Amino acid sequence: MPINVLVLGNGGRECALAWKIAQSPSLGKLFVMNGNPGTAPFAENVSGDVKDFDQVRDIIGKYAVDLLVVGPEDPLVNGITDYMAAEIPELKVVGPGRAGAMLEGSKQFAKRFMKRYGIPTADFKSFDGAGQLPEAMEYLDTLAPPYVLKADGLAAGKGVIIAPTKTEAEKGLEEMFGGKFGKAGHRVVIEQFLSGIEVSVFILTDGRNWMLLPEAKDYKRIGEGDTGLNTGGMGSVSPVPFCNSAFMDKVRERIIQPTIDGLVTDKIPYRGFVFFGLINCGGDPYVIEYNCRMGDPETQSVMPRIKSDFLGHLYAAASGNLKKERIEVSGDTAVSIVAVSGGYPESYGKGYRINGMENAESVTIFQSGTRFAETGTGGKDTASKKAIVTSGGRVLAVTAIADDIAKAREKGYRELAKIDFDKMYCRHDIGCDLMKR
Ligand code: AMP
Ligand code: GLY
Repeated sequence: MPINVLVLGNGGRECALAWKIAQSPSLGKLFVMNGNPGTAPFAENVSGDVKDFDQVRDIIGKYAVDLLVVGPEDPLVNGITDYMAAEIPELKVVGPGRAGAMLEGSKQFAKRFMKRYGIPTADFKSFDGAGQLPEAMEYLDTLAPPYVLKADGLAAGKGVIIAPTKTEAEKGLEEMFGGKFGKAGHRVVIEQFLSGIEVSVFILTDGRNWMLLPEAKDYKRIGEGDTGLNTGGMGSVSPVPFCNSAFMDKVRERIIQPTIDGLVTDKIPYRGFVFFGLINCGGDPYVIEYNCRMGDPETQSVMPRIKSDFLGHLYAAASGNLKKERIEVSGDTAVSIVAVSGGYPESYGKGYRINGMENAESVTIFQSGTRFAETGTGGKDTASKKAIVTSGGRVLAVTAIADDIAKAREKGYRELAKIDFDKMYCRHDIGCDLMKR
């Protein structure tokens, strides 16, 4: 039976997920809500509001969707999976219910979960509101700088302050309690600073069995050499050389299996992705954070390395039958370079015409902040109808695959150079740190 799939989301991650799903022999029809011009060649883009669950349900009904793949965290934390279980019981969903999504939705929940199950993570305490500022300041005295302050709730990746001094930490706490991150920051987790290199590890699970997906490193800062402001991600590389079998054995034994066992013990059903944001401290993995979804832009370098039938894996996980599935991963290296609109992550322009995508060869382009240009003339002019313009800060990612990082970098940058739009910017050092090691 061909499987009809709806992917929810419109970023580069969803573009990469849909691209991979589109290669499956088991696919019926593929829909993406809302998708973007990058998903249009292999999927039908459906417009709507992913936050409006009634609307999503109606679209699932209208298109006879069998499998819903939820890209971003927001709908998961807000309970889309529980909602669909009640409304369309036969629908299979990749993405945990509200309880499982708490691993990402509440830092305090995640930290308590890790402590309870002995999963290595930084020491922490949490504080509720400005009334607890004195206790929070006292806790800071027990820690060495820099100080890590985290808004408890979802803050679109921006809810963390790393304060170099106690004075700055105090200011940060006052701001957070005062509403800097909205409601998400009324509760603040303070934790011990860990130093090391970060890596994103992903599994697909049915709540008991799990499958390790390729790991990746992402590059969060806007500037070369990891300088400047934090962004949604400027590039990614998979695999990550320090994730050798000794390190990954520790990740499996100390982190992944205890997390799954903890979910089972807590009776939290979980069918979907778990994203472990890890830090390698002298060869030992620690959890910085959990996410209940894939990473962006990691997915753009993870998907091209999967050789087996990814849709088959997703459907099996969403059906509780992952045990028999085997993933096959290419040993090649994927390097994904994100092109952003100049000014990002601060203010930037939109609507710039993107040229040259058709000239890029032997790489895959995953679009994120793009849209079709309006025709403005009643839609008769097909050429301008097909023109693609920027509609966001992170515009597209070029992913190249080769047998080592150097070759993948060379190919990726060579082909990216054929693409341009006004004020386009990218980092030129994606993967460089991993070549030196
Ligand atoms: P999070 O939103 O929890 O992933 O935190 C965002 C970023 O802050 C992480 O990717 C790390 O670079 C940094 N960070 C978070 N927690 C810690 C920690 N305990 N020690 C050092 N850096 C951290
Ligand atoms: N690349 C990090 C994230 O998706 O949260």
